[in-house]
Amino acid sequence: MASFHTKIFTLNDDYMTPRYVWENIKQYIPKDQIIWEAFYGDGGSKNILNEMGFENVIHKPYPQYDFFNYEPEDYGLVLSNPPFSEVKYIMPRLKALDKPFILIMPCSKITCGYFRDFVKDIEPHSLQIIVPRSRIHFKKLVNGKISKEKSNANFDCYYYCYKMNLPTDIIFLGDDALKRDKPEWLPKLRIKLKGKYTIKT
Ligand SMILES: C[S@@+](CC[C@H](N)C(=O)[O-])C[C@H]1O[C@@H](n2cnc3c(N)ncnc32)[C@H](O)[C@@H]1O
Repeated sequence: MASFHTKIFTLNDDYMTPRYVWENIKQYIPKDQIIWEAFYGDGGSKNILNEMGFENVIHKPYPQYDFFNYEPEDYGLVLSNPPFSEVKYIMPRLKALDKPFILIMPCSKITCGYFRDFVKDIEPHSLQIIVPRSRIHFKKLVNGKISKEKSNANFDCYYYCYKMNLPTDIIFLGDDALKRDKPEWLPKLRIKLKGKYTIKT
């Protein structure tokens, strides 16, 4: 009989978004609007977005600026990778804010009751989804530093988009969005396999 094996992915909200994950959707992020990157982590997202040409990014440290009781005075959209364990509370707050957003969250969130509550009564086509070309592997933050330890996710994510006016309701990112950060273990593996295999990077 077939059995299911569950890989352990520690329940921890401190998984940071690698640069390529924002770069892969660059064309769908408006350049002329103020972005609220609402969930801080190590604060690295702001630098990444600034370097990509998004100059107006509000990204304030947590817990001093808590998503549930802080909102910038002026912003055009929320763009973030939120703490997944808090999504059930984040969705009602987003509903109340009613601002456009792009949020990276596990695919499974779409079947949750709180997600259903969010989509109830929203305008047709206001919820849209961007499907990444490959599984996103986040960067684990340990004691304020990005860990070198491999933190492969055992679930897939979508970019959930609200009121973003994308050209179609589901966008599958193509092969050109197959950018990944080079994993830490690659040089080691290359040495091990030298002479036997060619590794495409
Ligand atoms: C999954 S990490 C992502 C960090 C960052 N947005 C990124 O994409 O790299 C989520 C982070 O949200 C922050 N956070 C948790 N609860 C929060 C809250 N209530 N309000 C604001 N930020 C929160 C924590 O710092 C946590 O590391």
